[in-house]
Amino acid sequence: MAVVYITHEARAGWETIPPVLFLPRWSRIALVTRADLDKQPHEVAEMFDGVANRYDLTNTVLAFGQDRGWRRATRAALGLRPGERVLDVGAGTGVSTEELGRSGAFAVGADLSIGMLRAGRVTRPDVPLLAGDALRLPFADATFDAVTISFALRNVVDTAAALREFARVTRPGGRLVVCEFSHPTNGPFRTLYMQYLMRSLPAVARGVSSNPEAYVYLAESIRAWPDQRGLAARIAESGPWDRVGWRNLSGGIVALHRATRV
Ligand SMILES: C[S@@+](CC[C@H](N)C(=O)[O-])C[C@H]1O[C@@H](n2cnc3c(N)ncnc32)[C@H](O)[C@@H]1O
Repeated sequence: MAVVYITHEARAGWETIPPVLFLPRWSRIALVTRADLDKQPHEVAEMFDGVANRYDLTNTVLAFGQDRGWRRATRAALGLRPGERVLDVGAGTGVSTEELGRSGAFAVGADLSIGMLRAGRVTRPDVPLLAGDALRLPFADATFDAVTISFALRNVVDTAAALREFARVTRPGGRLVVCEFSHPTNGPFRTLYMQYLMRSLPAVARGVSSNPEAYVYLAESIRAWPDQRGLAARIAESGPWDRVGWRNLSGGIVALHRATRV
């Protein structure tokens, strides 16, 4: 089991790991492993092919409409300027890519699921979307000013390899923002939320999704995903990312992690 040592400080709503990690005993954490949840890339793609047609609607229903705010916060955290180039990995139907384009930057999405890309081409014909695996992105080194991934890093088979691949296509000094489900920080709320995830979410998904089983996987994968500090440690440990910090959204249901390319 991997054990890492981190500390953090609060700065303008963002918590950070300092560049030099120091090792007080109280800050020791163990990273969560995802033993039963690892899927092969073709299985992930098939699962998303199966939910593609109603993905956008299901998403908004299950998130009680909060997803729009999370996407806006992701765009703001990236600090995009007009004319910059930003890659949205795991873009799916392009709903996250479309939001990035509102900054005036050139936003392109890449995804493994042809079904999701096809659905996106119908609903968002103006959003550039390409087939591409997070682990072997079809771009030259240092192509982008920023790379982001929303609600998809959890699905990638090898998190560390994906983080290194994101760094490869990002220019030195460029930015990374990961938007992902995380762990609510308030204990009683976390308990309620976990009950919603494991019991109600699959039931609601049966009513709206074209493939409700995928939402059982969703609930289980969220539960098994590292918390805010754990993901920050993974990003820092992957090597090419510096100044790692995170910020909670909706009480920690979602967290934004940002980092700068070394
Ligand atoms: C939950 S959807 C997120 C879509 C969109 N980013 C959003 O915010 O709604 C996750 C997406 O990640 C994609 N994905 C999973 N593994 C991937 C990989 N290795 N490379 C590229 N895309 C991947 C899936 O096909 C799916 O479309």
